[in-house]
This record gives sequence, structure tokens and C-alpha cells, in this order.
Amino acid sequence: MSNTSQCRVCGGTVHEFFDFGRQPLSDAFLAPGSDLGQEFFFRLATGLCEACTMVQLMEEVPRDRMFHEEYPYYSSGSAYMRDHFEGLAKRLLATELTGEDPFIVEVGCNDGVMLRALAEAGVRHLGVEPSGGVADLAAEKGIRVRKSFFEESTAKEILAAEGHADVIYAANTLCHIPYIGSVLSGVAALLAPTGVFVFEDPYLSDIVERTSFDQIYDEHFFFFTVRSVGAMAAAHGLELVDVERLPVHGGEVRYTLAPAGSRQPSAAVAELLAEEDARGLGETATLRRFGENVLKIREDLTALLRRLRDEGRSVVGYGATAKSATVTNLCGIGPDLVSFVCDSTPTKQGRLTPGTHIPVRTPEDFARPYPDYALLFAWNHAEEIMAKEQEFRDAGGKWILYVPDVRIV
Ligand code: SAM
Ligand code: TMP
Ligand code: ZN
Repeated sequence: MSNTSQCRVCGGTVHEFFDFGRQPLSDAFLAPGSDLGQEFFFRLATGLCEACTMVQLMEEVPRDRMFHEEYPYYSSGSAYMRDHFEGLAKRLLATELTGEDPFIVEVGCNDGVMLRALAEAGVRHLGVEPSGGVADLAAEKGIRVRKSFFEESTAKEILAAEGHADVIYAANTLCHIPYIGSVLSGVAALLAPTGVFVFEDPYLSDIVERTSFDQIYDEHFFFFTVRSVGAMAAAHGLELVDVERLPVHGGEVRYTLAPAGSRQPSAAVAELLAEEDARGLGETATLRRFGENVLKIREDLTALLRRLRDEGRSVVGYGATAKSATVTNLCGIGPDLVSFVCDSTPTKQGRLTPGTHIPVRTPEDFARPYPDYALLFAWNHAEEIMAKEQEFRDAGGKWILYVPDVRIV
């Protein structure tokens, strides 16, 4: 019965555990007048590698379709995330970047949200960013950016031109790269013998525990765990030496890799590994249960939205996130159930959501007039958004959440 593919990390057999069906590109917001018949769709499905336990997509979307001149995600759009990255920059300045003329490379620097503080501190740095529009925004902040995809050949060119890196950093980017073997070979070559590769991405354990299935979309190819990352690192002469759970984006882990044998692994690595094993994260049965929970959320959310529509209530979406493509397309949520979605990103406004064609409008439109209900697609920014939109609640408005279950608050 089960579909299989070949693991992009170890070559082992990947067994499918959930099929989200036909899905569009999650960040392909349609401009007015575009041919709706020309949208790109693919089959979004997830599987577990029986050899290394890496959870991954069964099908890959070509990278140029996702990351290009008009890639619409601006990392600096959230004040909370700006603080998060500034905090990390300060910490790196005090720890890993203390030598003489230290050098840091960021893979997927986007609009420069993290490198800005380091550039201002005069640290030698390089951002590698294939999406031209956001790379330009980083350059305008005084950040050195190379407009390309990071892979082994890029790493070797950087090494030849600039020497070894003390820190290589990637946030919400490594999990986007199916050709991850090439990236790790590049990291192993570019990293100084005393250097570290630090990356942070959504954590499979949080996704399974919270049923945050909307973390699964075209751009998120891998769903890491301590076990799968440890195995992947070892295959490239690297070692997982530290892990740190992060509260951002619905639950992430920051992994630190170093050349094998160069640093003593922290106790946190073994502790989190034991927790994963106790939760059965590497087992098909656990992931199939996750799939059943996804179907329950789909049933509850569509039933609620249909009931509200039939009762004549107005419902608006908040946050035209990439994640919401999975929710709206899996659940069949179109403009008949959610009349529009408001979002602060100028390049998304005036467009239609991918696949389901819900209009995207400005946050100002949210109050003209306030709807009865707001479906919070950007639930990972709930605190920031609910505080900003307190007047909506004061006016009697209610938020609808669907992670970890469907609730009105
Ligand atoms: N680091 C930022 C953050 O955490 O907000 C940006 C994350 S964004 C979701 C992913 C970024 O990775 C995009 O800007 C994309 O263009 C970039 N990207 C995708 N593949 C890449 C690659 N092979 N090398 C470097 N950047 C890549
Ligand atoms: P993300 O969940 O992938 O970070 O995307 C968040 C989306 O929500 C992004 O398109 C920007 C939007 N957004 C707002 O419209 N208002 C806000 O206050 C925040 C934090 C995000
Ligand atoms: Zn594998």
C-alpha cells in the first residue's frame, strides 16, 4: 500500500505516512489578472526514512519556482523575530566571534534581519541569499550579500575568496534544501577547525505534539530531530554538540554542529534524544496518529466555518502565511468561508492566496468594519498580533485557532 521514495540524506527507504493531496506553491500569491489556470501544483506528502529517521517530503518542487526575485517573505516583518535574531547576534559576538577578524556566513539571510547587527558591529560577514528582492533589502542595510543558492560549489568559492568561516548560520533555511548533502559537504569544507555550524528550524516533536500540520508545505522539505540531525552530521565528519529548544515559529530547535571531536557535546543533546525516543518520534505508528489528528482538525475547522457562514457571521483570515496554503487547500477553504486575509506584507496585498484564491488585503482593512471572527493563520505570532489588534476584541471580535485543536478564544 505505502508509497516509498529514496532518502535525500542517507539513500535509505522513505515510507509515506500522510498525503496532503494536490497543493500549490505556498508563497505564489497571484497578481490581479493572472491566469488562474496556470498555477503550479504538486502532491504534498510526508514520509519517514526507515534507516536514518529523517522525515521528509515525498516530492520535491524545483528550487527556482520557490526562491526567486519576487519571493515575498520578509523576515523583518515581525518585531518579535527581529528581537530574536538580534539576541542571537549579540550572543555570537560574545562567544564565537571574539577572535581576531572573525568571519560569519549566513545561509538564507533574507532581508538581513540577523546580519544587520553584526554588520553594524563591524564583523566580517557574508549573506548567501538566492531570492533577489529580499537580498537587495539586505544590501540596502549595508550587508554584504551574494545572490546565489548555497551548496558545495558556493562554499568552495567563498573559502577560496575569504578563507574559513568561524560561524556558519542558517535560520529556517536548512530545512528548505532537499540537496542537503551538498550543503553539508560545503559547510564541512568552509568551516574553520574551531568553527561551528548553527541552524534553527521547526522541530518535528513540536509539530507532532501540537498537530501543527501547517508547518508542512513545499518549502519545508525536512522535519529535523536530534536523532536524524546527529546521523546526518556524522556522515559529513561533523558532530552535533548542542541543542536548544526555541519558542519561535511554533517550536524550533537550534542545532550546533562542529568538526567531529573538536568540542565536547553538551548534556542537552543526550537529554533531548532520550525524550524523542520516549515519544516514539522515529516510529511510523506515531506519525500515522499525527495524520489522524490532522484529519480531525480538518473536519472540525470546516464544520465551524460552514456553520458560521450559514449563520451569516463574517470571518476574515489574519496572516497570509505560507503555512496557510496547506490549511486552506487541505480543508477547501475559499472566499465563500473566509472573505479575505489581511497581511502586513506589501507584496502579498492586492493578490490572491495560492490555490484557494482568497483576496489578500492590508491590516487596515481588518477594521473596516471588524469581522465577527478572525481565523489566525499566523498563530505563531499570536501574542504580537493579538496585542496589536486589541481593539478587535474590544469590539466583540473573536479569534479562531486551529493548532493544537480548533478553538474560539
Ligand atoms: N533566515 C530568515 C528567517 O529565519 O527569517 C529567512 C528564512 S526564509 C523562510 C528562507 C530563505 O532561504 C529564503 O530567503 C530563501 O530565498 C533562502 N534559501 C532557499 N534556499 C537556499 C539556499 N540553497 N541557499 C541560501 N538560501 C536559500
Ligand atoms: P510566518 O508565520 O511565516 O512568519 O508569516 C507571518 C505572516 O503574517 C507574514 O506574511 C506577515 C504577516 N504578519 C502580519 O500581517 N502582521 C503581523 O503583525 C505579523 C507578526 C505578521
Ligand atoms: Zn535516511
